[in-house]
Amino acid sequence: DGVWHAPGRVNLIGEHTDYNDGLVLPFALSRGVTVAAARRDDGVIDVRSRQAPTAVTAPVDGPPVVSEGWPADRAWAAYPVGVARVLREHGTGGASLLIDSDLPQGAGLSSSAALECATALALCDLHGVEIDRPALARLAQRAENEQAGIPCGLMDQSASLLCTAGHALMLDCRSGLSSQVPFDPAAAGLTLLVVDTRASHALGGGEYGRRRAECEEAASLLGVDALRDVKDLAAALGSLKDPVLRRRVQHVVTENHRVEATVGLLRAGALPEFGAMLNASHLSLRDQFEVSWPEADATVDAALRAGARGGRMIGGGFGGSVIVLAPAARAERVGEAVTAAYEKRGWTPPRFLEAVPSDGARR
Ligand code: GLA
Repeated sequence: DGVWHAPGRVNLIGEHTDYNDGLVLPFALSRGVTVAAARRDDGVIDVRSRQAPTAVTAPVDGPPVVSEGWPADRAWAAYPVGVARVLREHGTGGASLLIDSDLPQGAGLSSSAALECATALALCDLHGVEIDRPALARLAQRAENEQAGIPCGLMDQSASLLCTAGHALMLDCRSGLSSQVPFDPAAAGLTLLVVDTRASHALGGGEYGRRRAECEEAASLLGVDALRDVKDLAAALGSLKDPVLRRRVQHVVTENHRVEATVGLLRAGALPEFGAMLNASHLSLRDQFEVSWPEADATVDAALRAGARGGRMIGGGFGGSVIVLAPAARAERVGEAVTAAYEKRGWTPPRFLEAVPSDGARR
């Protein structure tokens, strides 16, 4: 028996690049999902959550959860049960899980990945199965894809399992290789604010899958395995007829360069300068990839007017959170300006979290 914790994440930069075999730069939050678990040897997994009224009991040996058409009030349990069904092939078995979370749900901070990763670690430890963390991240992603039926990339699960305190994780989603990049905004006199825009985010909505399909179509028209491989952007844009696909390619290719530039700036200790990368990323997500939403645009706008160095939407889009990089001395004023912008429009007030790069999942 024991207790396992896996954190949510913020992605500094590298959005909609993971499923294009590209680069991402997330860090782990201090908030996350906690799983108290006990081993069961009867091939059954039972899960309860302090955030959900219904408990779920299911056989570990079963078809993909998504094919069983679970009702909406059990949908959350597809993540832990899905992980158990995927990991079963690697020698784990049943368990009783009690889940608790201090991550706001639907805020685009990867509460589902945190739930998958805490469950995966618990099942491996309880059944004495050893899987290295990069491989475990891929298995948790597989559970989300095949079991929960959500076509996410590799970023969130990797962030939850591989991040370390005081660092962002530079992950190459093709090779799976990663490195720790020191990231300590407070030491540079900066505050990184996470603004939950309260517009709820879900990847199941169809637009995420559509973006993935557009990227795959563009890659195949360009004759490359993935958009990661586009080296000559101008030539690629010249050869694509569809203006929508051209915009998608423009975003993915430039976003990969922004990750590399940001890593360079962070390693050089030039933290304020990377605000410009955040702004460029936001405009590209808004205008080229077309996944931003009104609250996110208004947040970035109000924050910049109040003296922030940069800001951008994070995650899949169409809801969720925004990050804002502000001089520590101005952070409060920036927060007030954002709140005032929401008030003026009659929107639900935003919620703020100070983001401190924290450790990944642990027992
Ligand atoms: C969601 C997905 C990730 C990634 C981001 C966009 O968070 O779960 O895999 O694709 O969107 O960068």
